[in-house]
Amino acid sequence: MKTLVIYYSFSGKTRGEAKRRAEKYDGELCEIFEAKKRNIITAFIPGCTQAMKRKVPVIRRPGADIGGYDRIYIGAPVWAGFPAPAFNAMVNLLPSGKEVGVFLTSGGGDSSKSAEGTKQMIEQRGCTLIEYIDVITEPNKS
Ligand SMILES: Cc1cc2nc3c(=O)[nH]c(=O)nc-3n(C[C@H](O)[C@H](O)[C@H](O)COP(=O)(O)O)c2cc1C
Repeated sequence: MKTLVIYYSFSGKTRGEAKRRAEKYDGELCEIFEAKKRNIITAFIPGCTQAMKRKVPVIRRPGADIGGYDRIYIGAPVWAGFPAPAFNAMVNLLPSGKEVGVFLTSGGGDSSKSAEGTKQMIEQRGCTLIEYIDVITEPNKS
């Protein structure tokens, strides 16, 4: 079973989680970057609105051939209760027929208000969702 862990990270926490998962599943890592780099201001405005509207940003071409993997884990931070916009671009890269796991990192909150829609996005790609988890990175803040 060839496994890929593909992720977007704004400030490094999702990257750390992605690395742990790649080790755990003996998978390969692929970081995704938005074509237009964000700073802390553009992450919040307009980033949060874009996340809530499930906007798809332009991303740089991934350094991995996603079609060559059987199982793909997608990771991103939660922004305003939704996966950060780059998540939507990663979902659009999914070929049908893959097994897909989702891990979303968040501060004190989680992704519960967007979870159903996110799961549907994976299924609409013709993929099987095998895992969906929230990873709380700053539990003391809730
Ligand atoms: C623009 C922005 C919006 C955020 N919105 C939320 C949120 O709604 N709920 C939450 O628990 N954490 C929120 N956070 C915190 C991040 O989701 C959390 O720190 C995450 O682990 C960061 O991952 P990263 O370092 O890979 O970017 C937000 C952070 C940013 C920058």
